[in-house]
Amino acid sequence: MPSPLSRRMLLAAPLLGAAAPPPRVHKPPTPHLAPGLNTHASRKRMFYGAAIDTQILRTDTAYMAHVPIECGMVVGEYAFKWSQLRPAPDRFDFRQADLLATYAARHRLRLRGHALVWYQSNPDWLEPMLTPDNAENILTTHIRNTVGHFRRRVVQWDVVNEAILPEDGKPHGLRNTLWLKALGPRYIDIAFESCAKADPGALRVLNEYGLEYALPWQERRRNAMLELLSDLRARNVPVQALGMQSHLDGAEIHLDQKVLAKFCADVASLGLKIVITEMDVRDNGLPADIALRDAAIAAHARAYLDAVLPNPAVIGVVTWGLSDRRSWLDQTMPRTDKLPQRPLPLDTDLKRKPLWASIAGALDVTTVRPA
Ligand code: XIL
Repeated sequence: MPSPLSRRMLLAAPLLGAAAPPPRVHKPPTPHLAPGLNTHASRKRMFYGAAIDTQILRTDTAYMAHVPIECGMVVGEYAFKWSQLRPAPDRFDFRQADLLATYAARHRLRLRGHALVWYQSNPDWLEPMLTPDNAENILTTHIRNTVGHFRRRVVQWDVVNEAILPEDGKPHGLRNTLWLKALGPRYIDIAFESCAKADPGALRVLNEYGLEYALPWQERRRNAMLELLSDLRARNVPVQALGMQSHLDGAEIHLDQKVLAKFCADVASLGLKIVITEMDVRDNGLPADIALRDAAIAAHARAYLDAVLPNPAVIGVVTWGLSDRRSWLDQTMPRTDKLPQRPLPLDTDLKRKPLWASIAGALDVTTVRPA
């Protein structure tokens, strides 16, 4: 089937008669820069990518000019969530996600899908209508259609996002979500199996936050995660990778490289890959001074990456945005002085920051992954 782009080109072809002037292409000037983060990553057979908001994609050409320079992969920050894809129980709307997919194809970037199952960003109709009788059908219909629509275009799926919350007191530390209430723990099996069936070639990821620090509540989350992953693997549920979101906190002192390395080794020993899926470094606990903030963020990220990247199971790094022009942190965890945060590799002028150098540097010193 032709992609939307080629279909449009085919339709336009008869209008471009022999005498027609060549079509004008409005391309933003390509900034001339040293190799981008994905080049550093690909030297190690890894990838670097960023979450892209489709509003930015449509409106900020300067921002978007830097995406193909830095990235080998993109992920929809919002476009692949149920609230975007499912306006009504009987309808799918792929327009936003297709926009990103078309962009990615045009720039030869790989595409991640995020997320097939999450307890947040769902349409209002979903939770009230779920029952133990209809939930499996609703879930498999969503995954079959969505993964089917992006078959061979999305190379990695966050199949289940944020499945654990030990404080909820459920088996394996599972979070008490709409899906757990309707289906019990087997919602996870159903999701991974449906995804595998709809596109066997896409990497299937279980994505989670709060696994990064040597804090008691995160220790409980790591243990719950290992228990969950072991159980899934023992029962041949087709999970293939753990996504460590890696929303880091530049002011957090409990970053223990030994704890991180051990956790990655434990995950890898289950035969799983690891993807750093949503990295950013918040600075709402740091002073206002920009040079100081940037240096602290960069050092923090470098310490984190130096602990995690040595494990060859780690196949790539994705940041939750590319430039400080837009970060979810300014809405969800604003600084008390209201200054914008600086959590991403490029600043608001799209200049590379110390954090950029930390990511490049950490990739440069890691090992080449096996072919
Ligand atoms: C956030 C997006 O950045 C926001 O734009 C959106 O409103 C809500 O979701 N963990 C996740 C992501 O898995 O989906 C979240 O993204 C950030 C935290």
